[in-house]
Amino acid sequence: MRFDIITLFPELFAPFLASGVTRRAYASDQVAVRLWNPRDHADGNYRRVDDRPFGGGPGMVMMIEPLVRCLAAIRADRAALAEPTPAPVVLFSPIGEVLRHDGVARWAEGPGAILLCGRYEGIDQRFIDTHVDAQISLGDFVLSGGEIAALALLDAVTRLQPGVLNDAGSHQLDSFNPALDGLLDCPHYTRPEHWEPGPDQAPVPVPEVLMSGHHAHIERWRREQSLRITAQHRPELIQAARAAGRLSRSDEAVLARLG
Ligand SMILES: C[S@@+](CC[C@H](N)C(=O)[O-])C[C@H]1O[C@@H](n2cnc3c(N)ncnc32)[C@H](O)[C@@H]1O
Repeated sequence: MRFDIITLFPELFAPFLASGVTRRAYASDQVAVRLWNPRDHADGNYRRVDDRPFGGGPGMVMMIEPLVRCLAAIRADRAALAEPTPAPVVLFSPIGEVLRHDGVARWAEGPGAILLCGRYEGIDQRFIDTHVDAQISLGDFVLSGGEIAALALLDAVTRLQPGVLNDAGSHQLDSFNPALDGLLDCPHYTRPEHWEPGPDQAPVPVPEVLMSGHHAHIERWRREQSLRITAQHRPELIQAARAAGRLSRSDEAVLARLG
């Protein structure tokens, strides 16, 4: 799997690619990441990549020509691979489909993509019309650039790759995963068993069941907690799980008890 990232700020990616549980996947090219700066494909001494918008108004617009040349360089580089794979061009944009688990899972199963990070007021529409295959949004808010959205997609896709997480299959217990029926994750606790908040305050224990060593009881407690948290914070996910036939009779009994 390979992601080519077009960005005016490639330096933003280095610390991310070298940190955390995903870093080995990037270092070994299990998830290959290549960074491309449109400025390297711009004209003149100033290597200009942006200009004022026609029609007036605030801000600058990313110019089409450096982007076209940058994309051609990426395509040539990919064509020289031993096993070239198709690579859609994905633009991060508030216009795009909001990124969710099912979208991440689709990208995680594919061969990768060319990710385009916008800056300024955005990108000359002619590039979008002629070269962009898909648009992805991180949510209904505006970022200064597409880099954070690219990092979000990259991270979410990489942690779904085999062997990336220390505990194989642990992502299946994460929120939104179909293995968890699309529900939210349960709460987690670790040492100390009794936390002392302050001199005049009672110690706060972890839920007793987690100390019982009784795996079936622990599993049931976790499921109940997932149902409770999901019903409280994202009731529409309960509806979706129900509509998909993912809730058992005992799940429904828990939900009925919760009211
Ligand atoms: C300042 S924004 C441009 C916002 C644009 N003028 C608008 O109002 O929709 C610059 C770049 O950040 C990225 N961006 C901003 N918000 C985003 C979001 N919610 N999701 C994904 N990318 C976003 C896009 O690549 C965009 O081209």
